[in-house]
Amino acid sequence: MPSALTLSGSIRTGSFNKKLQDAVDGKLATAGVAVNSISLADFDMPIFNEDLEPHAVPEAAGRLAELFRTHDIVFIATPEYNGGLPPLMVNTIAWLSRQKPSPFRHTVFGIGGVSSGRYGTIWAQSHLRDSLSKIGALVVPTLLGVGPHSSAFSPDGQIAEAGAVQKIDQMVSELTHFSRGGI
Ligand SMILES: Cc1cc2nc3c(=O)[nH]c(=O)nc-3n(C[C@H](O)[C@H](O)[C@H](O)COP(=O)(O)O)c2cc1C
Repeated sequence: MPSALTLSGSIRTGSFNKKLQDAVDGKLATAGVAVNSISLADFDMPIFNEDLEPHAVPEAAGRLAELFRTHDIVFIATPEYNGGLPPLMVNTIAWLSRQKPSPFRHTVFGIGGVSSGRYGTIWAQSHLRDSLSKIGALVVPTLLGVGPHSSAFSPDGQIAEAGAVQKIDQMVSELTHFSRGGI
């Protein structure tokens, strides 16, 4: 059975990106994938600073890197801050990029995001796709941008827009069909 690790770039109570993560979790599980849905709140890491290497590397960096290496799929839901990535996301990628062997070269990545704006994190996703690609990740093509969040979710936290549901289905289809083929 394929396995997926899912996470969100927001640890805010009531995060819309966590709701997107939950929606993707449900669809992956329905597709027969074993889902490990985590919160970055459980992987505490200081702001990256090369002075912390090698004596003060947070154990969470190694723990998270190992999770990336041991799942077939990684799905990341990210908010957009000021047309870019939130600091939690940037910091997490910085720490992961320093772990050996690379946590980015085994799995297939899907990215998505929810924002308050109607462009639905397209700039943040562009940054994330570009950064992940430059460090060896294979990111599937679907652009899963959801926004504005005020109309995208029903009061019970479910995705309410047919277009977003369709994009999640497409994302899950890609994530379960693409493979790095062991390279
Ligand atoms: C510092 C900051 C910058 C933001 N910049 C953007 C932005 O550039 N585009 C946008 O659509 N929303 C922006 N927002 C609003 C977020 O999309 C909104 O807060 C969203 O709900 C955050 O995701 P979350 O609910 O998962 O925490 C910003 C919010 C914050 C706090």
